[in-house]
Amino acid sequence: MPRRAAASPRLSKIAWLLAASLALSLAPIPQAQAQATRYAEAPPLLLGAAWYPEQWPEAQWEHDLALMEAAHIQLVRIGEFAWSRMAPREGEYDFAWLDHAIAAAARHHMVVVLGTPTAAPPAWLTQKYPDTLRMTADGVRDEHGNRQQFSFASRRYRSFAHAIAEQMARRYGHNPNVVGWQLDNEYAEDSFDPEAKQQFHAWLARKYGSIAALNERWATAYWSQTYNDFAQIPVRAADENPALLLDWKRFVSQTWQDYSINQVQAIRPHADPRQFITTNTMGWFAGFDAYTVHQALDMAAWDDYVAGEHYDWADNAARHDLTRGYKQRNFWVMETQPGFVNWRATNVALHKGEVRAMAWQAVGHGADAVAYWQWRAAPNGQEEYHGTLVGADGEPVPVYSEIQQVGAEFAQAGKALAGTTPQADVALINDFDSRWALGFQKHSAEFDPVAEMKAFYRPLRAQAQVVDVISALAPLAGYKLVVAPSLNVLTEAQAAALKAYVAQGGHLVLGPRSAMKNADNGLHPQRQPGPLAELLGGKVAQFYALDKPVPVVGGEGAGDMAAGSASIWAEQLQANDAQTEVPLRYGKSNGWLDGQPAVLTRRVGQGRITYVGAWLDEALLHRLTAGWLREAAVSAPMPDVPAEVEVCVRGDATHLVVVLINHGQQPQKVKLPAAMSSLLDPHEDGATTSEVNLDAEGVAVLQGQR
Ligand code: GAL
Repeated sequence: MPRRAAASPRLSKIAWLLAASLALSLAPIPQAQAQATRYAEAPPLLLGAAWYPEQWPEAQWEHDLALMEAAHIQLVRIGEFAWSRMAPREGEYDFAWLDHAIAAAARHHMVVVLGTPTAAPPAWLTQKYPDTLRMTADGVRDEHGNRQQFSFASRRYRSFAHAIAEQMARRYGHNPNVVGWQLDNEYAEDSFDPEAKQQFHAWLARKYGSIAALNERWATAYWSQTYNDFAQIPVRAADENPALLLDWKRFVSQTWQDYSINQVQAIRPHADPRQFITTNTMGWFAGFDAYTVHQALDMAAWDDYVAGEHYDWADNAARHDLTRGYKQRNFWVMETQPGFVNWRATNVALHKGEVRAMAWQAVGHGADAVAYWQWRAAPNGQEEYHGTLVGADGEPVPVYSEIQQVGAEFAQAGKALAGTTPQADVALINDFDSRWALGFQKHSAEFDPVAEMKAFYRPLRAQAQVVDVISALAPLAGYKLVVAPSLNVLTEAQAAALKAYVAQGGHLVLGPRSAMKNADNGLHPQRQPGPLAELLGGKVAQFYALDKPVPVVGGEGAGDMAAGSASIWAEQLQANDAQTEVPLRYGKSNGWLDGQPAVLTRRVGQGRITYVGAWLDEALLHRLTAGWLREAAVSAPMPDVPAEVEVCVRGDATHLVVVLINHGQQPQKVKLPAAMSSLLDPHEDGATTSEVNLDAEGVAVLQGQR
């Protein structure tokens, strides 16, 4: 494979100083580690594809693999739906084809991720053991034919899953061409079969110890819900006691963790330590707590399909940062769309250039691999219309050449990116308990906690440029600013961590609806923000769901923050400490809110706590965010770039790599704060550059020193 070495940067003295100030705002944080895998020999940036050799005669593989190699593809994921091919009948295994496929890929210089095939059980299994099939909340058993039809709680299913994973691991656990394992595929469906229900009851019994304790914590005197026995507890995922609903989600998360551990235990004893074990997740999907599941995994990986019909780059950026936060280090994009999908109402294709822009965005946010789904459509099956790199004739489709360019660029820039990761001064807290709790009791149909999270993410991203999205229990000490958009459920442990963060000099910003609920999804005995109200020196007097926007005006010390509006949600706040400031108030509204505080903030030693009581309009939140960043001394690594240009920065102890992406349709010019060397378009003599021209969808990858 042709590789061009990156030009070494030659920085002038001024540029060094500028680079040093750039470095200041990107001081490495202790919890951040770089590389996603422990596979030292693999190229630092991998381009990949999902390949299904089981769907094709072996005679065709060579042609496919040669075309992959010509596109600089160095990674194939194989096997995740091939159970009936690996085990045609109970107890009978056939791995010869997989041996050949891995060897053939290796001959074309590709490493392999093996998928355990448990997302699609074979017909012989579910026919003989129908108890392994999942059951919907309405009590309907699933059938064979689609996928994900198994019960995640079934012990029998677990034993079959263990057996197939173990067979694979015994055979490939030390295969030098296998870099890692993907467990199953996109965990998603919970099950309400009798075994799952019984396990939920047992889980509750373990958690609460006695039924009396559960009754107390769930406040079951309400509506005569008091239980004498755990077996009496209904198992449903809607319209129940909020404590039950939250515990069901936690049980589901724990069950997916156990489901993962079952396969990890089958693979790990037979696998080389350098082989990672992961699964592929789905962005904001909240079917389970991703932090819980990732405790059982070595690496995070996700499937990046654009969230709407068109690519919204800030939305996509947030999902990369979310995934990076699962293990707080680099991750893989295990699947992404080569142009378009087949499962939307209208499957609009990405613009020419957007596939490349997306690939570089992934890398900019910490992906060490980007793999397309899929290489080639199956000759039949539900996904015949999905985007691919080659057609049914086995020859390239138009997007192939764009992906080939990405492959060439990964090879070119990979060395400089090795060991680097995004290093943020700012963190956004994502909390599954809170998102679920808000979903169970929305109070306003418009209140979507993910949309609210993104409302806080966008101005942070635009102004700080490097943002971590982390769990509420992640270490906070390295961050200058921590924003918790709607931390609705605040446990004692979380409250203690947040208080400690402020006491150590951090600035904590809480969004509306924060700290209303306790760990049991009950109401905190203190008004919002519950255990943090004392620290804030203020509280929520009342909350209001809004059906139309209300005006918001500057309070004392508002400066240039001035006016704006709140919509969807507004809380009437009350300051009860002389040190508590009121930067924003509501204008004329429903009478209750008129003139009342909308934002409270209080300095605590070197730290600060701020409570934002409303869903503020974009421009206003942007200005507020600017103030928080200024006060926390967080500066953008590359200030003053055009709004459509995304700045991504990865660094290590000695150098930085900046990925600039023009997501707009107009060419843009970007002045660099320090001279840097271009990795994709290096000067012959290794000279540096201080200005970059970006075409529409254009990408520049630049290297500088710390
Ligand atoms: C993913 C799934 C793949 C394929 C793809 C199509 O969610 O993991 O198997 O179905 O969607 O976009």
